[in-house]
Amino acid sequence: GHPHVHQRDGALHTEGVRLADLAAAHGTPLFVYSKASMLDALAAYQRGFAGRRAQICYAMKANSTLAVLQLFARAGCGFDIVSGGELQRVLAAGGDPAKVIFSGVGKTRAEMRLALDHGIACFNVESAAELDVLDEVARAHGSRARVSIRVNPDVDAKTHPYISTGLKGNKFGVAHDEALALYRHAASLAGLQVVGIDCHIGSQITDASPYVDAMDRVLDLVDAIEAAGIRIEHIDFGGGLGIVYGAPGDDAPPAADGLWQQLLAKLDARGYGDRLLMIEPGRSLVGNAGLCLTEVLYLKPGAQKNFCIVDAAMNDLPRPAMYQAFHQIVPLAPRTQTPEVYDVVGPVCESGDWLGRDRKLAVQPGDQLAVLSAGAYCMSMSSNYNTRGRAAEVLVDGSAAHLIRAREDVQAQMRGESLLPD
Ligand code: LLP
Repeated sequence: GHPHVHQRDGALHTEGVRLADLAAAHGTPLFVYSKASMLDALAAYQRGFAGRRAQICYAMKANSTLAVLQLFARAGCGFDIVSGGELQRVLAAGGDPAKVIFSGVGKTRAEMRLALDHGIACFNVESAAELDVLDEVARAHGSRARVSIRVNPDVDAKTHPYISTGLKGNKFGVAHDEALALYRHAASLAGLQVVGIDCHIGSQITDASPYVDAMDRVLDLVDAIEAAGIRIEHIDFGGGLGIVYGAPGDDAPPAADGLWQQLLAKLDARGYGDRLLMIEPGRSLVGNAGLCLTEVLYLKPGAQKNFCIVDAAMNDLPRPAMYQAFHQIVPLAPRTQTPEVYDVVGPVCESGDWLGRDRKLAVQPGDQLAVLSAGAYCMSMSSNYNTRGRAAEVLVDGSAAHLIRAREDVQAQMRGESLLPD
């Protein structure tokens, strides 16, 4: 799962850069990304769409650091955003707002106006109430909002309940059997222009069948919508392809290019092969391109558990605490001593602050570890809990390493706060 991370001469590297050198130069915790790994992951989708009209919109919530956005913008990507702040990041990174789609159940009027100002490609509308507000905002703005309705195909993506989004009980999207009426309504509104349809069934999906089922369900709707005289120019199949985290017994996700061959065959068979295809992948573009370097502070043997206390924590890497997610943890320089079994935990004052459980490690205080598959939903979900500054980030390109985010200091954290008057 990590083709650009490897051991060479007894030292772990990302591409041509020794990770211990990066830790020495920038300190820990430190996120390190491989540019080649991100571009290779993108290329797998691009191969899958070869010869098609397609737009890949990187779901930037997975990792919204400016240099990462810049990399994808230069590679031709658009962006799937979920807030006005994300749009501002796209603009700051040199991305093209005409390739931006706006998802999310709670868009505010101010966010709608900002997106209209910049002429984004499409609003992925998630409710009847939102549709009417968008119509009103667009008319007042003197423009027409290009819209797609996010339909809920009600398929089970068989992933963690917190990241499964396409079931009836989720807050996302419009129910399949209400979608046609909403499309008719949208087509009647002067502030809106119907351009597409979209769905998203979940994240970290490792099985092709929910995608195939969702496509059938969505195309059934396209049949009905077009029969009602409303043209669907683009079909957006969402994101969600999983990555290998390396947990024992985990299923390997299908490869992006192979999955798309299968889906495109279905699209052709149903007569929609000529439409603009859109997807919104996040995790699969960046997840395995990143790792987090951390230093062992203390070893704390115990009657029931041994703890390996490191300087990265749940504020840096919230996925284990939030989803009991597994991330591989490997020493930068392997030792020959007999390994012990540890829970790898951070300094935050919560029992949920762990990065790995029951890991066999041969380590000493001062050793450095790499937490793998940390490119997606780690830095972008990080927080300042316990007044911990956010980690620094480095992007590796061959033998070059670029600092793309400086470590956050306490002054930056306190900016904007004020004391009470005397
Ligand atoms: N499009 C929409 C509308 C989404 O809601 C999402 C993710 C994506 C695209 C991108 O999905 P991806 O390709 O990354 O699976 N924080 C969780 C994942 C939350 C995913 C939310 N939506 C985690 O760390 O596992």
